[in-house]
Amino acid sequence: MKRRIFIDTDTASDDAVALLMAFEHFESSLVGIGVVAGNVPLQQGVQNAMFVRDLVNMLTPVYAGASEPIARPLETAQNVHGQDGMGDIGLPIGQNFANQGHAVDALIDAADRYSGSLELVTLGPLTNIALAISEKPEIVHQIKRCFIMGGTSDNIGNVTPFSEFNMWVDPEAADIVFRSCLRKVMIGWDISRKYAVINDEEAQILRSLGTEKARVAVDSQKVLRQFCEQETGIDGFDLPDPIAMSVVFSDEAVIRSIASSVRISLEDGSKRGMTIIDHRDNADHEKTTVIVLECNRQYFMDKLIQSLR
Ligand code: BDR
Ligand code: CA
Repeated sequence: MKRRIFIDTDTASDDAVALLMAFEHFESSLVGIGVVAGNVPLQQGVQNAMFVRDLVNMLTPVYAGASEPIARPLETAQNVHGQDGMGDIGLPIGQNFANQGHAVDALIDAADRYSGSLELVTLGPLTNIALAISEKPEIVHQIKRCFIMGGTSDNIGNVTPFSEFNMWVDPEAADIVFRSCLRKVMIGWDISRKYAVINDEEAQILRSLGTEKARVAVDSQKVLRQFCEQETGIDGFDLPDPIAMSVVFSDEAVIRSIASSVRISLEDGSKRGMTIIDHRDNADHEKTTVIVLECNRQYFMDKLIQSLR
């Protein structure tokens, strides 16, 4: 049966690579892209998503969604991805109109149309998804699975010592999504740190594929590369959203996972947005989340190269 995929993204440099992979792999199975504020303000994210879509000559609709988190002011990651979110390398990112309609309504419509088969992939804060669940609670039964890039399974964060960016930006939204009985697959930042770091030599190899896609994919990580060197000590840059996308492609991407229940810390301070995983067998909550613990780096690299060729 043909898969039906809807992606929700706060499009910046690593989201852009994940989108390139999705366009290549899913083609017309990709039914829509919703954008949410996160890495960059909403309108910048919309323009970035449309830039990537146009780069590969696709017509997938791009919808603008929430411009701020449910209960907190937006704090972007422009220090990580650049002012334009795409590494500030002067890409000709336009000022285009997104498709008509709100991303939340587009997701609700897609879930109706492909009820039971729609698969959702989230690459940003969960604001749009939480709003969709609040507006139409049955959506959690219509969506077959939701792949979530976010959180950490080892509690080593990239925004605070414990918290990952997507969960940290809108913890109240993440709380709604993780408490719901939506079937979820969580690919945390630990997976990116362990299996999706691209060092300078590998970046050169990717770039030398010689396509425009490959050049954009590598060069747009410029600000991220500096951030990794100065802040996280990562030897190169890491690609959280792209490795999450490889998990969407196939079970082959996953080496080890565990079914569990996840809760989100709503505290302020260093535990804001932290993912709390109950590993006990007798956990009192339903285990609605499969947490990816180990990934297949070779599979990810193969898919990455294939989509940039
Ligand atoms: C996540 O946060 C963003 O900066 C990336 O796009 C990714 O979705 C990693 O923590
Ligand atoms: Ca993202």
